[in-house]
Formats: sequence, structure tokens, C-alpha cells
Amino acid sequence: MLVKQVRSILDGETDPIVAMANTSAAIFYSLPDLNWAGFYRVVGGDLVLGPFQGKVACTRIKRGRGVCGTALDAGRSQLVPDVHAFPGHIACDSASRSEVVVPVRNKNGEIFAVLDIDSPVLGRFNEDDLALFEAIAKEFEVLS
Ligand code: SME
Repeated sequence: MLVKQVRSILDGETDPIVAMANTSAAIFYSLPDLNWAGFYRVVGGDLVLGPFQGKVACTRIKRGRGVCGTALDAGRSQLVPDVHAFPGHIACDSASRSEVVVPVRNKNGEIFAVLDIDSPVLGRFNEDDLALFEAIAKEFEVLS
């Protein structure tokens, strides 16, 4: 359902900001127990806050820092059941207890953003959730 919705958001849309904005809203209002859903864009090799739903967040994250910077640096998704157990976790919203971050690639395979989903519930996300967020990120591979 959600992947189909994101596909239709990206259908004929070439502006990544538009796609990220509506995808954040689609995720945030479709899934239970989330306190933040959104994107950080890769700018100059580091991460800069992009479209999101949730409370005011950290604006800039260095590559390799926190869960988001680790996902960018490793080029791999991060599933964090307990953010307090993740070394270097950046607490933007103190309510966050678990988190998933997925790299978002364009049609050339370059990571141009990361998708970050936070929950106030410990261990909120499982492998199925991770697969869902990775499928959502994959829809962005139509962008150049
Ligand atoms: N917790 C993230 C920072 C982003 S906020 O959660 C929105 C991190 O450690 O990268």
C-alpha cells in the first residue's frame, strides 16, 4: 500500500524535494508509533535536513556521525532497536527510542539522501519494517 503510494508520488515527479516532502507525510500518517519521519540530503558530502514530519530536528550531520551519518558512510541501512545503545546517536527529539535509517539512491546508484524514521517505542522496527523502508527508498531510483 505505502510503496504504491510512494510510487504514485514519484510518478512523473522529477523534483526530489517534492517527492521527499510527500513521502515523509505518507509514512508519518500511515504507520503507528512514529515521532519523526523524513529525509536528510547529502550536501557537500555531509547531511543537511530535508523534508520531514515531526518536531524540529538537527539541521546538519557530518558523514559518519550518528545513525544517519553512519548509514551514509557505510552505504547501508541501520536498524537500531535502542538508540541509547548506539554509540554516537544524535538525540534530536529526546522521545526517540528506536530508529531506522535507509540510504536513498538515484538512478546512477549515488546516495543523495537518507530516509530516517524514529519511534518513541523501544524495538518498534523489525526486518519487515526495514524491508518496507528500503522498498520506499528504491522508488527514488527513478530520479536523476
Ligand atoms: N537520531 C539521528 C539524528 C536525526 S533525528 O533523529 C531526526 C541520528 O543519530 O543520526
